[in-house]
Amino acid sequence: MAVIEEAAAVSGGALASASADFDVIVIGSGPGGYIAAIRAAQLGKTVACIEEWRDDAGKPKLGGTCLNVGCIPSKALLASSEHFEQAVHGFAEHGIQVKEVALDLPQMIRRKAAIVDKITGGVEFLFRKNKVTWIKGHGKFTDRGTDGVIRVEVLEDNSAKTYRARSVIIATGSRARHLPGIPVDNKIVSDNVGALSFDTVPKRLAIIGAGVIGLELGSVWRRLGAEVTLLEALPTFLGALDETVAKEAERIFEKQGLNIHLAVTIGKIDMSAQGVSIAYKDKEGVDQKLEADRLIVSIGRVPNTHNLGLDAVGLSTDTRGFIPVDDQCRTSVPGIYAIGDVVRGPMLAHKAEDEGVMAAEMIDGQKPAIDYNRIPWVIYTEPEIAWVGKSEAQLKAEGCEIQTGQFPMKVNGRALGVGRPEGFIKMIADAKTDEILGVHIISANASELIAEAVVALEFGAASEDIGMISHPHPSLSEVMRESALAVRKRALNM
Ligand code: FAD
Ligand code: NAI
Repeated sequence: MAVIEEAAAVSGGALASASADFDVIVIGSGPGGYIAAIRAAQLGKTVACIEEWRDDAGKPKLGGTCLNVGCIPSKALLASSEHFEQAVHGFAEHGIQVKEVALDLPQMIRRKAAIVDKITGGVEFLFRKNKVTWIKGHGKFTDRGTDGVIRVEVLEDNSAKTYRARSVIIATGSRARHLPGIPVDNKIVSDNVGALSFDTVPKRLAIIGAGVIGLELGSVWRRLGAEVTLLEALPTFLGALDETVAKEAERIFEKQGLNIHLAVTIGKIDMSAQGVSIAYKDKEGVDQKLEADRLIVSIGRVPNTHNLGLDAVGLSTDTRGFIPVDDQCRTSVPGIYAIGDVVRGPMLAHKAEDEGVMAAEMIDGQKPAIDYNRIPWVIYTEPEIAWVGKSEAQLKAEGCEIQTGQFPMKVNGRALGVGRPEGFIKMIADAKTDEILGVHIISANASELIAEAVVALEFGAASEDIGMISHPHPSLSEVMRESALAVRKRALNM
């Protein structure tokens, strides 16, 4: 152990004199891994990234969950389904008569696939540009020598090759959690993978889990014509959100036609080639049955550490399956870092990216840091939901004295012009110092609006600062300024 500690003090984990194939090996090429690889290469390291992903046609792919079956394809379908809904229900108000709107689902799915191909191909290009070696196959630790050099075996097509690295970044991500005893065939019962590629719009779609995936993909299929029912175990809708936003979201989504049942207990699920029958107890404890043509299971995700050889290098997972790391993403083994969905914290692509940069800079001997309180969240429903910092309930529980300002979209000229008057922005500031502690948005384009709030929190801005800054007119961003002014009861347009 003393030798290993001594080694750790030298050259990012390994003795400077030790020979290795690469300075850095990254296992996994999702947004955490590919960004870590690029940043390490920018810093002059020799870098390899091991990735085992293959698409349905068996073609090796970079980009992980996010680019292949997560953020990117889901947002493509959200956009397409939104256009469809607008064509069917929204254009008439603008004086545009569209006759016989027809859905070409195969084309919608092909468009999504083309976007995935383009963006994953973009990562391949970036690897070539930055001289990152892409090693195709499954990576597994075999040992860490007394010189601190880490060996990773890569298995592909029944052959194995071992590579030596001075530092390793584990970026193996996560996969969908499934219900025990309910096999996911991605036809009748799907997780995120199948739910992004249905070949027909189900007439009746059941979703277990009214979290982020349930709401986003539920919205996609509702807009395309499915009758969607969400069954959620918790009694509170979107319990992690500021309560004001969560209440408004529940009201709007119910109005849109999502049937949301909270506080349910799922019982027996029967599957057949025609569909599923889900027995559950409702919030009053009464037995209910939901019949559906398809079921999406979206009950959270579990970290990927299967057959990773963690024990061979002295690592193990915590009780929830995550790899324990410190604030700088260091594991307990010198030279080995872990980032993204496989470690604590929110399962978000931009959080994985930030940690990828941090791990690469740590290996380079820099002293980077991440403030997790300043990582924004977005739910890409319509309206979108976005927030950064703390909720009113969290701050009150912490004993903070706060003042809040809230301003509705419905009195904003741009929101009316674009036909998106729903929602509001709520800003929370420290009652004494006026420092902004949280911003919570439910509105069109909340994913873009929240960026201003992230900057404000990062620079320790006061609500007064945002209230003083010129915002373009007419724009949705004026509501950010008005919510800031509302903190001191100074909103101008209400
Ligand atoms: P991943 O993207 O999961 O990548 C891990 C990679 O490691 C995979 O390619 C895997 O094949 C590879 N791998 C695993 N083990 C090995 C091994 N032993 N050897 C070789 N390769 C291995 N987040 C957002 O911020 N915004 C969104 O809009 C958003 N939308 C989402 C929508 C859906 C439907 C889903 C499922 C997720 C979404 N997320 C979103 C979450 C986001 O996808 C994840 O937080 C992000 O992908 C995590 O990045 P990662 O690099 O940690 O892991
Ligand atoms: P989630 O954690 O957002 O929601 C899962 C929901 O399922 C929770 O509300 C939970 O209470 C419920 N649940 C769990 N077990 C249940 C059971 N047995 N019966 C009924 N309900 C049950 O997880 P989700 O939606 O699967 O998404 C996984 C993660 O992927 C998210 O937490 C998020 O980090 C990431 N993601 C991010 C997106 C974004 O940033 N826009 C979009 C999609 C996913």
